[in-house]
Amino acid sequence: MTASTPLRLIPARPEHVDAWWAMREEPASRRLMPLEPASRESLLKRLAESSSNLGDPKATSFRWMVEWEDRLIGTVSARELSRFHGRVEVGYMLHSAYHGRGLGTRAVAAVVARLFDWPFLHRVWLTTAVDNHASQGVARKLGFSLEGVMRGHYLIEGRRKDQQVWGLVRPEWEARREQLAPLLEGTLGPE
Ligand SMILES: CC(C)(COP(=O)(O)OP(=O)(O)OC[C@H]1O[C@@H](n2cnc3c(N)ncnc32)[C@H](O)[C@@H]1OP(=O)(O)O)[C@@H](O)C(=O)NCCC(=O)NCCS
Repeated sequence: MTASTPLRLIPARPEHVDAWWAMREEPASRRLMPLEPASRESLLKRLAESSSNLGDPKATSFRWMVEWEDRLIGTVSARELSRFHGRVEVGYMLHSAYHGRGLGTRAVAAVVARLFDWPFLHRVWLTTAVDNHASQGVARKLGFSLEGVMRGHYLIEGRRKDQQVWGLVRPEWEARREQLAPLLEGTLGPE
């Protein structure tokens, strides 16, 4: 059922601010992500500063919304792009009603695949809390390796947590890409 229903990555726009806000406010997100307090205005500013056009030579921060069964169910970002070093960081979040159905893996796979279309890109990386097993599951499925742990790097709901750093370098992605092709079927975008 899940695999055959198209999943779309669409450009994040100001009108998506409330959907994004709502996902950030969910207990499942607050418990697992190092979300600093943010106002609706600051999220709008971040949306305005993000691009969704991978062909924009000046953009360093990108965001897409994930649409599935005509609903906005999540968001995926790529930020801190360095064209010089050939690296970018990805982030992702789904509405909790859609967790655990393989949708997060599909959405992040689609973005990572498009990021590696940049010929200069060598490395995609991400961070996650040490107890965020779903996020680690996404990273592992896409071929990322656990590279290290920063102790006590996050303050989440008043408690210190270790932060894991995961990375995927181009030769690993190229070795993995064919195996991941079925995951990308039925996934549209990002353009
Ligand atoms: C992280 C997140 C995007 C993952 O998306 P998802 O659709 O729930 O994950 P998937 O269903 O694609 O699962 C990916 C893998 O992780 C595993 N997994 C999923 N949830 C898990 C859990 N709670 N515990 C352990 N493993 C889990 C899955 O089994 C799957 O591996 P498998 O196919 O080998 O079985 C989603 O759970 C989420 O938005 N969480 C809250 C926000 C967040 O933590 N964002 C990431 C910050 S780093």
